[in-house]
Amino acid sequence: MDSLPFSQASENNKLPIHQVLVRHLVSRCSLLEIGGGTGQHAEFFAEHFPGLIWQSSDVPSNIELLNLRIAHARLPNLPLAISLDVNETHWHCGSFDAVFSANCLHIISEQSVENFFAGMDKCIHKDGLLLVYGPFKYDGEFTTESNAGFDVWLKSRNPVSGVRDFEWVNKLAQDSGLTLVEDSIMPANNQLLVWSKL
Ligand SMILES: C[S@@+](CC[C@H](N)C(=O)[O-])C[C@H]1O[C@@H](n2cnc3c(N)ncnc32)[C@H](O)[C@@H]1O
Repeated sequence: MDSLPFSQASENNKLPIHQVLVRHLVSRCSLLEIGGGTGQHAEFFAEHFPGLIWQSSDVPSNIELLNLRIAHARLPNLPLAISLDVNETHWHCGSFDAVFSANCLHIISEQSVENFFAGMDKCIHKDGLLLVYGPFKYDGEFTTESNAGFDVWLKSRNPVSGVRDFEWVNKLAQDSGLTLVEDSIMPANNQLLVWSKL
């Protein structure tokens, strides 16, 4: 359907992301997606992981758009998305085997990134996973010239946005009881970081 929300980037990255997710999600039953956007990831991954309940979410202002695609997909393991702003004091979302978020940490503010990781304390089961896709800096350096340009562009749109330091993000994850188990280099200068709650 032409009127559904669409992102070319999501279309391009869903297959490479799937290649990593398949190693981690096959035996998992429930997943919370944060910042579901157009719902393309939710639709594609719910279809490819039929044994996994894919609970997407987004800020209240994006829920209607996100649910257009989710309702259209009519998949038994893809319920309508719920409202979740990572800056809420209490996340009313329950607890999941895994949390997935793509292309959000460089959009939201540093304070929101801190709130995102603080929220992991309650929404991931013991032995659960956090999977985060997006661009990162390492040792304060961009991985590519293109990511340096992307950072400038992000900040011109919104000064609180920006490509995050891997080391800072990993420390926030550790403070939330998460241990890094994988850092995969992805196409288009992105990473897929996987943490486990041991
Ligand atoms: C660049 S989009 C990424 C969308 C989708 N995950 C993708 O990869 O195409 C960033 C998403 O973060 C969401 N977002 C922004 N602020 C947020 C917040 N405070 N809490 C939760 N999600 C937020 C936006 O609504 C949007 O869906």
